[in-house]
Amino acid sequence: MNQILKIENVTKKYNNNFKALDNLNLNILKGEIFALLGPNGAGKSTLINTVCGILNFNEGSIRVNDHDVIKEYRKTRSLIGIVPQELNLEAFETVWDNVNYSRGLYGKPPNYKHIESILRELSLWDKKESKLRELSGGMKRRVLIAKALSHEPKILFLDEPTASVDVELRKDMWKIIKRLKSKGVTIILTTHYIEEAEEIADRVGIINNGKIIIVDEKNRLIKKLGQKILKIELSTNILNIPEKLHSYNLKLNNEGTVITYIYDTKANKTGITTLLTELKNHNIQLKDISTEQSSLESIFLNLLKESEYELVRS
Ligand SMILES: Nc1ncnc2c1ncn2[C@@H]1O[C@H](COP(=O)(O)OP(=O)(O)O)[C@@H](O)[C@H]1O
Ligand SMILES: [Mg+2]
Repeated sequence: MNQILKIENVTKKYNNNFKALDNLNLNILKGEIFALLGPNGAGKSTLINTVCGILNFNEGSIRVNDHDVIKEYRKTRSLIGIVPQELNLEAFETVWDNVNYSRGLYGKPPNYKHIESILRELSLWDKKESKLRELSGGMKRRVLIAKALSHEPKILFLDEPTASVDVELRKDMWKIIKRLKSKGVTIILTTHYIEEAEEIADRVGIINNGKIIIVDEKNRLIKKLGQKILKIELSTNILNIPEKLHSYNLKLNNEGTVITYIYDTKANKTGITTLLTELKNHNIQLKDISTEQSSLESIFLNLLKESEYELVRS
């Protein structure tokens, strides 16, 4: 897959000189669902708003479909749809007028067929004549998505689409997002729910203090998330790991006095009991054992400590 969004060395300082984005790099692939995961204040909204041209930035470059977001603003903006974090809608307009008007803002000629199909997709067709103030919070969120899709963007940003929505609507949102992906739209969503990233993302990036800490395929990330390290201290050093134990992929550290074993906490069998038995059979004497979280898990835990919000794993 090729890159549809290229963010290079971007730094954003707010007027009070606060650095919300710090030399940030990120590439988004065409057609993927990318989840940007991070605690409150990490810089998620700032990043989205700089890409969409709502905020300017101080250093670096951002290219959408190989167009520069500053020099070719109109072009890049028309390729992007954004569903903002806040529900900011004109209370007295109807759903139909509001979504059609949004399309016009991008200089696109009216296309009632397209707007109808979006409203149907989002289960809003019945509500097309409703005034926005009459809608529930969940329906308003759907209208925001309809508006963002009105001009047929190639990339859709969703800023915390499921924050403070009920479980039912969250599941609906996930379905909507997956359907959009199947139609070729690239999706970037921000979230502080690990569960959400697990459910729908192809790749996940973790942001904290304006920096991307890690980017990886979701499945690889989950694997790492579920791993722990078992540290076995030995009474006397050994020269090498006995051949029979090679399948455990053990590492011998500290001049032969420490064996480490990485295991999957989600597996039915961690292999710990059999490993310890095998060590005994080989007359390897243990002094102490302890476990540590794998590095990604500790990243998450550190994020948790630093944030007011919680990264929820429900
Ligand atoms: N207009 C602003 N002026 C100064 N600081 C801001 C402004 N907007 C956001 N910030 C700060 O920038 C950081 C990132 O904010 P934001 O991008 O909204 O984070 P997130 O969306 O990840 O919760 C936060 O520390 C926030 O307080
Ligand atoms: Mg935000």
